[in-house]
Amino acid sequence: MRNIISTICILAVLLTGCSTRQPQYRIGVSQCLDDAWRQKMNYEMERELLLHPDMTISRRIAYGSNELQCAQIDSFICEHVDLLIVSPNEAEQVQPAVTRAYRAGIPVIVADRRVPGDEWTAFIGGDNYKVGRLMAQWVTGKAKSERLKAKREPFVVLEVAGLPGSTPATLRHRGMMEGIEAADTKGCIVVESVMGRWYKENAYEAVSAYLETHPLPDAIVAHNDLMAIGAAEAVPSIPIMGVDGIHPGLQAIVDGKIECSATYSSRGDMIIDAAARILHNESYVRDTVLETTLVDRIAAYPMLKQDEAITRDLETLHIVQTQSESKWKQLQFDRFMLILSVVFFFTLFIITLGYIFIKQRKIQTEIKHDIIPQLENMQEAIQLSKKDEAFAERLRQVVDDYLKDPNLTVEFLGGKLQLSRTQLFRRVKAVAGKGPLDYIRERRLLRADELLRTTDMTIQQVALELCFSSPGYFTKCYKEYFGHLPSVR
Ligand code: FRU
Repeated sequence: MRNIISTICILAVLLTGCSTRQPQYRIGVSQCLDDAWRQKMNYEMERELLLHPDMTISRRIAYGSNELQCAQIDSFICEHVDLLIVSPNEAEQVQPAVTRAYRAGIPVIVADRRVPGDEWTAFIGGDNYKVGRLMAQWVTGKAKSERLKAKREPFVVLEVAGLPGSTPATLRHRGMMEGIEAADTKGCIVVESVMGRWYKENAYEAVSAYLETHPLPDAIVAHNDLMAIGAAEAVPSIPIMGVDGIHPGLQAIVDGKIECSATYSSRGDMIIDAAARILHNESYVRDTVLETTLVDRIAAYPMLKQDEAITRDLETLHIVQTQSESKWKQLQFDRFMLILSVVFFFTLFIITLGYIFIKQRKIQTEIKHDIIPQLENMQEAIQLSKKDEAFAERLRQVVDDYLKDPNLTVEFLGGKLQLSRTQLFRRVKAVAGKGPLDYIRERRLLRADELLRTTDMTIQQVALELCFSSPGYFTKCYKEYFGHLPSVR
């Protein structure tokens, strides 16, 4: 019985377990920061993940700390994630952890910011050098038109740089410097740099501090839109270019706070698609460099509207996803309850069957051991009583036949019934409740009473007829038996 129940339970667990949509692959995402651009990237990843129910992501954010990011990557390695997506904070510092993951056999997708070497599985990110060239293009254009207007030299550009060790900061700077160089401006453009470390607040403070010791620059180039907005808050009146071209930057362009931005795609969807391909052993592109373009005020407005629409869609999608997940959970719960009740009632059925079976066996044993012997005893008893009846009849007959015979003694009776004295005594006692002598006397007294009632015979005649030793003895016996004298009628 216990075996049956445990089998049923295992079956139920298997039934409920095997059809749940458990993700098969766990992807670790290590993000260096948590700004608007990265939130967009996260959103894109989640949206794409809807197409891959066999994958799930676990995201950790390092908030600009190389040490924390390395520790987070190491924890992903310990947890044996199936794939790692890393957007490193500073390339050199985070590279060892990326290499550790790669050497541990975990496929690694480096996203957005590169790391030195080639110990990674795939790279997807923007063309930071080209971003730098776009910045140079804008700066040289500005310098030329300024020169035409005021003939002012040199044209001073303030560069608000991102975190120095990060590849975008390095490449954007290099791209810009080489771009300016290539434009052959013959030293009429001077680039001065402050550090914004990717944050708006830092940029505001760095630009404000710069202005305390320097005259107003002719233009500002920030390595991202957030820092461009920070710079615009410190110097509202000069042309500023940013990088990223997503919502906050587009809005700032539309509002006239900054002049333009270079797009820098996050493409979280592409990253997840690559992850799926790697995990499913499908072909993938190892090195994907995303295009960049300049967004001016004319382009910014439709892009902003488009961005808002996409954000709305993403939010709707998110709500729908949450709803469908809760519906799915409810469905799972209902199914579990259904299976549980089926298992419960089935178990109850089995238990009842078992109980009936055991009870039946018990009844059968009882019948075999108690009732059948009892019936047999009863049958025996019936047969015995039948035997007794026959004996009683025969006894009465023999006794009645010899009532008038003085030879009717116990021995005589034993002889007639072919029983020993002891047997005779036992059997007469059993059927008549008295010994043979008393039985013979009782039969004689009953006959005597009959004779006295039905004939004209006297007491003496009757006593003599029925072999009483004397009329007196007869009278005594009669009175003892009937309770009155034979003369009393
Ligand atoms: C966000 C960000 C972007 C920038 C990118 C470069 O963390 O600073 O603004 O373009 O990173 O990796």
